[in-house]
Amino acid sequence: MAEFLLSVPALERNARILRETADAAGAKVLVALKAFATTSALHYLSVYADGACASGLYEAQLAAKHVGAHIAVYSPAYSQAELLELLDFAHHIDFNSLSQWERYRALCTQHPRARSGELQFGLRVNPCFSTSHTPLYDPCATGSRLGVPVAELTACEPQLLVGISGLHMHTLCEQYTTDLISTVAALEKQATPLLASPAIRYLNLGGGHWITKPDYDRGALVELILRLKQQYGVQVYLEPGEAWCIHTGVLRSQVLDIFEAAGHSHAILDVSVSAHMPDVLEMPYRPCVFCTVPFSSDASLQQPAVCLPEEFYHAAGVAGELPHTYRLGARTCLAGDVLGDFSFPRSLAVGDTIIMDDMAHYTIVKTTHFNGVPHPDIALLLPDNSIRTVRHFTFRDFADRLG
Ligand SMILES: Cc1ncc(COP(=O)(O)O)c(C=O)c1O
Repeated sequence: MAEFLLSVPALERNARILRETADAAGAKVLVALKAFATTSALHYLSVYADGACASGLYEAQLAAKHVGAHIAVYSPAYSQAELLELLDFAHHIDFNSLSQWERYRALCTQHPRARSGELQFGLRVNPCFSTSHTPLYDPCATGSRLGVPVAELTACEPQLLVGISGLHMHTLCEQYTTDLISTVAALEKQATPLLASPAIRYLNLGGGHWITKPDYDRGALVELILRLKQQYGVQVYLEPGEAWCIHTGVLRSQVLDIFEAAGHSHAILDVSVSAHMPDVLEMPYRPCVFCTVPFSSDASLQQPAVCLPEEFYHAAGVAGELPHTYRLGARTCLAGDVLGDFSFPRSLAVGDTIIMDDMAHYTIVKTTHFNGVPHPDIALLLPDNSIRTVRHFTFRDFADRLG
């Protein structure tokens, strides 16, 4: 049976790094629930986080229940009904456009929580400075709908910004400090007076910061934030998603069938790429794959994020690199539901365990029941090496979801 297995010690390791970095910079760090919303694991992150960032009402409700503290919401658009609910419990509500802000401004600023200062409002600004390498994840691409283009924001009637006390900027995806620094510089070049205005109390630098990667320059991030705080008198927020969860989870699957067709050795897995690892097809990217081996003496080999004590693993190579090459495919009818061609040190057999690495962030939240493929369980590997299954999916989950 396939399973998403998340390591609690690995989640805590990332969380500690994020907490230490935020503390060094005097910044607030939020968990972006769009990347990871496994409620039974959020508890381990909430101990270290200042709160959560939500993409709308449902994530905000989840944040209130499972993360607590500060709840920052940003959505490309709010319905009035959603906004009315958010006004009662969110702390920051960031708007994507001047037109939504104008439409809801009176509603927002007259709310008792806004009057008491418990609730603040911000605008997402688009610095129109692209550093992303993946078009699907580039909010600064020409014609983007995400955020008010900085030139339009600085040119707008000052009266329109009354009631706005924050700026929100999300421009990065899996990026390092050099890109953040150049993006902030691009923003400052056009919006220094706005940033320096006493009305602006917070600056949310969004997500996409690869803070928990070993080669991320955390010192440079801290330096930048300290400077921004000092220069503009703002509270800085970071709202990473992936950085909390990178290298914390795997998808464990089993080989259901092996056969030769059209000149390829096909191994069919008990999962779907489309339903259970959609970013592999959407982004697209090639995940790191492992097979279990009887014994691995090569300590230099990369290992999956989550290792079971009784198992040894070998990383798969590209086609032809290792002796046995297979096309790893899904059990759905979608022709393109294929992980790719991978080579292994040994031949595969039905029942073998195949592990897809780094499947915690953006993967579990995006899964579907396409083709009625049994949904992988979700389980936690606890610090004492025991495994706790926190969600087992059944036929009812598949049938009930579609009404
Ligand atoms: C507004 C916003 N904040 C935060 C994030 C989290 O980004 P990441 O998981 O790349 O850190 C995203 C991701 O798309 C986002 O759109």
